[in-house]
Amino acid sequence: MIGRLNVRLAEALAVGRRNGTYKVVKELQGTVGAHVELADRGRVLLFSSNDYLGLSSRPEVVVAAKAALDRFGASTASVRFICGTLSIHRELETELSRFLGVGSALTYSSCWAANTGLIPAITQAGDVVLADELNHASLIDGGRLAPKGVERRVYGHADMADLARLLSAAASAPARFIVTDGVFSMEGDLAPLPDIAALARAHDAVVVLDDSHGMGVMGETGRGTAEHFGVAAEIDIYTGTLGKALGGGTGGFVAGPLPVIETLVQRSRPHLFSNALPASVAGASLAGLRILEEGRHLPAALRAKAAWFRQALREHGIQAIDSPSAIVPVIVGETARAIAMAERLLDHGLFVTGFGFPVVPEGTARLRFQVSAGHSEEDLREAVAIIAKAWSQARHADAPRAS
Ligand SMILES: Cc1ncc(COP(=O)(O)O)c(C=O)c1O
Repeated sequence: MIGRLNVRLAEALAVGRRNGTYKVVKELQGTVGAHVELADRGRVLLFSSNDYLGLSSRPEVVVAAKAALDRFGASTASVRFICGTLSIHRELETELSRFLGVGSALTYSSCWAANTGLIPAITQAGDVVLADELNHASLIDGGRLAPKGVERRVYGHADMADLARLLSAAASAPARFIVTDGVFSMEGDLAPLPDIAALARAHDAVVVLDDSHGMGVMGETGRGTAEHFGVAAEIDIYTGTLGKALGGGTGGFVAGPLPVIETLVQRSRPHLFSNALPASVAGASLAGLRILEEGRHLPAALRAKAAWFRQALREHGIQAIDSPSAIVPVIVGETARAIAMAERLLDHGLFVTGFGFPVVPEGTARLRFQVSAGHSEEDLREAVAIIAKAWSQARHADAPRAS
């Protein structure tokens, strides 16, 4: 049987290779920063990193990770309820809940695990989960794992009239949950949180915000998209990753009222059936959070760099999706075009990923540039020059739609 399966899979993979949609994973040979050392390519500029503030390789973070490793070892030995939890987990969870101004927090090995663990644990038959159509895949899968009888409804992207209509239709449900990204990962735009909060108030709904790309980036103190809009008090439950701007390298969490967190400890399947965050990651995350709290200028400085980059592309006739976040996507059309364009940029020394179907809808493939605090002015200028050159070559070669 495995022979036939291998043939079937190989045929499907060959189709991807033929039509230019096959993803080749690049190998990095050192730390992730503004530049990286790529196997077979050498040193290139990196514009694909989620490490927005460059915290993950800061000496304080690396030292804290090593200290946690020395104290607690590499293993968490088992699931937390079976073999106990590490004090550093509790320390990090206290710090996260304090940072976000909510009652409690629970860490997971990833935000994927947090999102797929949260929704099934807090919903029950009859409840309605309302989700933005561009929500991250982990929120979508979290909804799919909800208990039988939980209704899932998808509203148009940031379409508040659609959300209001669906909320009205769900008036008799025992509970309504509005689930949204804060910064949408493939567009970089922001959820209209003030409108969402107003609708939640009017329709007595719970707001669940995954702010994986917003924390550390948006808001005066980096507390995220809700802080940016001044509606932090109206977010009921946060989820987020420790593996992007917060500097932990990996890991995720849910933060919210104590009954929610206690329920997750009792029922959430990734918490009950999977090992906890390694101590080194908890140590790194704690150090990252401390740097963010002390360096209050960091998010604003990052956003200023992203705004400069977006404007500079515009001046070269390259239109990125507009937003105040650090995600700067340029739509190029077909998946194969995005991948080919990324290869062209890499040939010029700039590493960025082309995203196509199934990550984004067919025909809207894009290059997603991500600006980082580690990019110097010179790095930004060099990247813009490379992109402008590649776009001009592509126009001549009649490659991507270079709008
Ligand atoms: C909005 C959003 N949620 C969740 C995740 C998953 O985060 P993690 O890598 O911690 O699983 C991502 C990562 O890409 C994301 O963009």
